Amino acid sequence: MTAKDIHLPYFDLLLAQLEQENAKLELAFGRHVHWGYWSEPPQGVVSPKDFAQAAENLSKEIYFAANTKNNQRILDVGCGFGGTVASLNENFSGMELIGLNIDIRQLLRAQEKIKARPGNVIYFEAADACALPFPDQSFDVVLAVECIFHFAQRSQFFAEVWRVLKPGGRFAFSDFVSQDFFSPLMAFSSGWPFSRGFFGHCNLQYTLTQYRSLAQAMGFKERMEKDITENTLPTYAFLRALGKELRIKDPSAKLETWIAEWASRLGLLRYRVFSFEKLKSG
Ligand SMILES: C[S@@+](CC[C@H](N)C(=O)[O-])C[C@H]1O[C@@H](n2cnc3c(N)ncnc32)[C@H](O)[C@@H]1O
Repeated sequence: MTAKDIHLPYFDLLLAQLEQENAKLELAFGRHVHWGYWSEPPQGVVSPKDFAQAAENLSKEIYFAANTKNNQRILDVGCGFGGTVASLNENFSGMELIGLNIDIRQLLRAQEKIKARPGNVIYFEAADACALPFPDQSFDVVLAVECIFHFAQRSQFFAEVWRVLKPGGRFAFSDFVSQDFFSPLMAFSSGWPFSRGFFGHCNLQYTLTQYRSLAQAMGFKERMEKDITENTLPTYAFLRALGKELRIKDPSAKLETWIAEWASRLGLLRYRVFSFEKLKSG
């Protein structure tokens, strides 16, 4: 995939709104662009500030699942506006943090907003997740927060993560994962016209069984797997309200969010966090 193939209308909308200094969107999505982790179901209306906190919590869930420590070299693939890199920068020292994204517009914003604390190094790289421009065995940790469903091929991405991780390194990510029996029905999510919808190309068909066998075939040892679907559900009401307020015209925005919400509420699509280790002997 090349930059000219990028079709992410939700980011076109976000970038346009941020450019116009939409304060609500700046608070909710100016740092992280993901579903968030709600540790307690919120009472009443969710504010952009609550949402921003939930978004911060999700990044922490993932980088703590990777056993992140001070003095590490970390790659955050599909880094969006760099929220996870910013959070790592604020909470750890002696870090070399690299955010990678296929969409240079997002990286320009990240570069402008995020400044490394003394002792940390941060830079951003424009590239495709399935062709990582880094030498073998060069990272302690690779993260991928809610972005793998966009990639052309999970197997190619996993092979690249394996290659760039040091022995003993950790790979943690979150993704929407289909139940085995529901996966054939989710096949439509990766095909036309869904691939041209508001959320761009999304393959929500991958299952837990497939993730586990891919990881095993690659030589990864599973260190953690957690179903956090329930902790993401409050996000849907927030998105619905926002969609109305912004008067989003694209019908696929509503339809795709509705499918994700109801497949999640019915237990057919699960939101999972994974952590794998590249064993030293691997
Ligand atoms: C839902 S957003 C998540 C952003 C970020 N991880 C976060 O949590 O805020 C998905 C991200 O994946 C990026 N992306 C999509 N396809 C990609 C690819 N092939 N290579 C690298 N990044 C990609 C998008 O540009 C977007 O930033």
